[in-house]
Amino acid sequence: MSEELDNLEKQIEEKISNTSNLNDLNSIRVEVFGKKGLITNHLKSLSTLSEEERKEKGKKINNIKDKINVLLIQKNKILNETEISQKLQKEKVDITLSSRPFNQGKINPITQTIAEVTKIFQKMGFETALGPDIEDDYHNFTALNIPEEHPARQLHDTFYLKGDNKKLLRTHTSPVQIRTLEKRKPPLKIIAPGRTYRADSDTTHTPMFHQIEGLFLDKDVNMSHLKGCIMDFCREFFEINDLPVRFRPSFFPFTEPSAEIDIGCFKDNKQIKIGNGGSWLEIMGCGMVHKEVLNYCKVDHKKFQGFAFGMGVERLAMLKYGISDLRSFFNSDIKWLNNFGFSIFENIEKI
Ligand code: DAH
Repeated sequence: MSEELDNLEKQIEEKISNTSNLNDLNSIRVEVFGKKGLITNHLKSLSTLSEEERKEKGKKINNIKDKINVLLIQKNKILNETEISQKLQKEKVDITLSSRPFNQGKINPITQTIAEVTKIFQKMGFETALGPDIEDDYHNFTALNIPEEHPARQLHDTFYLKGDNKKLLRTHTSPVQIRTLEKRKPPLKIIAPGRTYRADSDTTHTPMFHQIEGLFLDKDVNMSHLKGCIMDFCREFFEINDLPVRFRPSFFPFTEPSAEIDIGCFKDNKQIKIGNGGSWLEIMGCGMVHKEVLNYCKVDHKKFQGFAFGMGVERLAMLKYGISDLRSFFNSDIKWLNNFGFSIFENIEKI
């Protein structure tokens, strides 16, 4: 009897020592201590014995049970540790591998153009100013000398917001002139890029587009300063030293006198090219800031004068980068962006 139990103990100990994974170890546990397990059966058989035998065999079995339990716990710990270290080994990341540049994203030509224009004016001492996309009637129109019944209000195809406080989506970046002058006193030189909105949608208009506004106020500023500033800008932006720039008289309510600026161009193989070629292309509006606008902003027009200008970003980008369809800027077409977009790495020094 005792020999049989000794043999069983040995057998189980051997099995435990030979297992190399947690699953097998668990099977051994069931085989030994399960409902019909080897040890369980011996425990059950105790009831058939005399009291004397039962005491002796019971003690022996419990002894074996304790020993095997300890062995199972120890083996479980060892196998767990090897399993974890094997897993770590498998999932090891080689941090010494050299990195690859992640350059899948591209800069939209609109963003690129705004950065290029801003950079040129920055070199001339202009600071960047921003204003809200949701404007009110006063800043978008009234303070820019566009009164209630002025036809220019109809021309702007304004998106009005619901409610009776006449909130609207700004139709141009000119209100940033007013917002800046409410906060700061001249002299100042600002450039204000941003989104603008008009209820207009066809091949040459999108309801949302971008403008860049400029404002320069100081003592004794005159039209020749405006001409010099804009000519320098056009030539640097289009990278053409002898680019013809023409000032053509025009009308804007917020400037007097006002002008539209044309740059030289020509047709090459049905494509419009910028440069000295006998034709003209309009690229922006400008003028000397109107006395009424200065009055609205509480600036003494006898002391300070200045000029303002405004340009459409999409048009500049199309002309400089040969983009023919205005709507392609906003289609989020990855193929188009890969072709016309800019890599942040290539252009870092430009922006
Ligand atoms: N705000 C004008 C527009 O949207 C553009 C413009 C013209 C701005 C002349 C100016 C300016 O500051 O002087 O068409």
